[in-house]
Amino acid sequence: MAFPRVIFILGGPGSGKGTQCKKIIDTFSDFVHLSAGELLRDAKNSGSTAGELIQKCMMEGSIVPAEVTVGLLKDAMIKFGWEKKRFLVDGFPRNDENYNAWFRILPDPYVECCLFLNCEDDILVKRILGRAEGRSDDNIETLTKRLNTYRDSTQPIIRRFAEAGKLIAIDAEGDVDTIFNRIRAALSL
Ligand code: ADP
Ligand code: C5P
Ligand code: MG
Repeated sequence: MAFPRVIFILGGPGSGKGTQCKKIIDTFSDFVHLSAGELLRDAKNSGSTAGELIQKCMMEGSIVPAEVTVGLLKDAMIKFGWEKKRFLVDGFPRNDENYNAWFRILPDPYVECCLFLNCEDDILVKRILGRAEGRSDDNIETLTKRLNTYRDSTQPIIRRFAEAGKLIAIDAEGDVDTIFNRIRAALSL
């Protein structure tokens, strides 16, 4: 049996995960972009039984129970045919529970690395408040909570990948194309 090849993409809210993943899939056709946040928003909007819980967590800036998110990621990977593609799994694993659930639920996945988009908080705040998608969680009150969750729950996961020798850290400050070129160089694309 072939296993999925996965690159996790982590970084603070507004670090450019979605922007850079889009550039990668537009340039390299063997990649698929799966944003955990997008999958959760789609599930919420399509009347999933977990919809209310997802909405509550998003507005609190907290992390949705992992079995919900991993289930959505797994279904999406199966739909794309997981042996053929390289998956950019964006915004995951956000905490210990995400991390542990991934390795429990998905059999022997092959995680190539974790790509970390490193960006200072003041830039994250500017980018999120300037984002024009109309997301209900892109307000200063929820963003403050999301930044706290990022610091307390996600940064330890990033350190875990570093300790395992699986972290590729990218300076995510600067213009979009400069950062894309840094990612291409780091991933040998
Ligand atoms: P994330 O998915 O990490 O939360 P996004 O890719 O959605 O971040 O980017 C957040 C906002 O910042 C968007 O409005 C995007 O257009 C903008 N943005 C992304 N990368 C840059 C960059 N390098 N410089 C300036 N703005 C950026
Ligand atoms: O990555 P994104 O900014 O789209 O995530 C939006 C929200 O989705 C997060 O603040 C969080 O509430 C939820 N989320 C989650 N678990 C993930 C990814 C996102 O609970 N792994
Ligand atoms: Mg995003």
